[in-house]
Amino acid sequence: MNVLVIGKGGREHAIVRALSFSQSVNEVHCAPGSDGMKKDSFVHDINVSNLDELQNFLKQKRINLVIIGPENFLVDGLADHIRSFGVDVFGPSKVGARLEASKVFAKQFMQEAGVPTSQFTAVSSVQQTIDAAAKFKAPFVFKADGLAAGKGVAICSTLKELKSVAEKCFEDKVFGDSGKLALLEEFQNGYELSFLILTNGKEYQAMPLAQDHKSLYDGGKGPNTGGMGVVAPIKIDVNLEKEIHEKILKPTVDHINKSGVEYHGVVFVGLMVTKDGPTVIEYNVRFGDPETQTLLPLLDGDWGEVFSDIAKGVVKPLSWKSQCVSCIVLAAENYPAQPVKGVKINGNIQASSAFSYILHAGTKKNEDGDWVTNGGRVINLIGMGSTHGESVGNAYKLCEEINWDGMQLRRDIGAGISKI
Ligand code: AMP
Ligand code: GLY
Repeated sequence: MNVLVIGKGGREHAIVRALSFSQSVNEVHCAPGSDGMKKDSFVHDINVSNLDELQNFLKQKRINLVIIGPENFLVDGLADHIRSFGVDVFGPSKVGARLEASKVFAKQFMQEAGVPTSQFTAVSSVQQTIDAAAKFKAPFVFKADGLAAGKGVAICSTLKELKSVAEKCFEDKVFGDSGKLALLEEFQNGYELSFLILTNGKEYQAMPLAQDHKSLYDGGKGPNTGGMGVVAPIKIDVNLEKEIHEKILKPTVDHINKSGVEYHGVVFVGLMVTKDGPTVIEYNVRFGDPETQTLLPLLDGDWGEVFSDIAKGVVKPLSWKSQCVSCIVLAAENYPAQPVKGVKINGNIQASSAFSYILHAGTKKNEDGDWVTNGGRVINLIGMGSTHGESVGNAYKLCEEINWDGMQLRRDIGAGISKI
């Protein structure tokens, strides 16, 4: 089969790379993709939101399956359009994507499904936020309702800080329509895990657990980012894993089924494991970035077949390798606020070893043929090993090969696993 992957980041590079090893796949195409993906796929600079252009492209390249990476396309209903062209799609319908498009909707869904999550109140003005804060204790968790490219969540240690965040959201409208509504929710103490399940909206298969590192700086300090590094698989107590399946994953899929929503894709369940048990922080309707970079290499099988089965609504048992994979993110100067683009990347951008390789997350080749930064998260260093220590070590070894002015990375990826 011929496959089109939609997107251009490290997650999509990981997907095209996995497909390039799939026996079931003839041609791997990517749109809009990036220069760095050209070694693993055919990259096409087409506007996938132009439906005529996309339909012609799918016909011309005889595409059998489309995999949609980023959430914005799913929220806009791209999966429904592609399905109406008669092409299989991995990714939920527009209605299914509401689980990520609206945090208030997701919370109501969790309540209806009986899935444990923190207490919350929906707010739509500064005054409502301040009034509602009386029900909560500091730190206050404030979340813009809609998509905000990972920037819509603020954890405020004082009421004054909360007021300023609410003003930015409701009065300065920094999140546009995504900030017309917001959530104020109870702060949860614990450790975070990313649990991704592949589902047809009725049954599911879980992927191995992964742990992301969301803060910009070592030790969980600094602003929240899209993710600075991941280690997988994370082994947890069998009873806790059973509890997560019974109280969270199964009720989530059962409730999708009950709602009659078309959902052929992945549900990313962001968990907080607290002393009172696991709770759901958020749902995403797409693969995690950079979780995907560590999870795909763990499949003992053919990703082309798995994606195609799920797109057709078929969930089959999956087997996973007993191996560890880590991803270290190299980010641009001033990420996550306003990443500096166009900075020349020095060193060997194609560096690899038997146990490590590089994925392109936000790079491009300029007119002089130099690689430059072109996004917030620029490079993913992937390391493999028989232990977490080995896999992280192999990923970090690649740091010696690459640098640029203002490059940022965390040096403690994987350091907290022993505490789980
Ligand atoms: P979200 O976009 O909802 O995943 O939130 C981004 C990050 O903020 C999460 O990965 C957590 O690190 C943190 N966070 C979100 N909600 C809470 C909460 N209720 N309690 C503690 N931390 C939270
Ligand atoms: N790494 C977290 C996310 O993809 O949202």
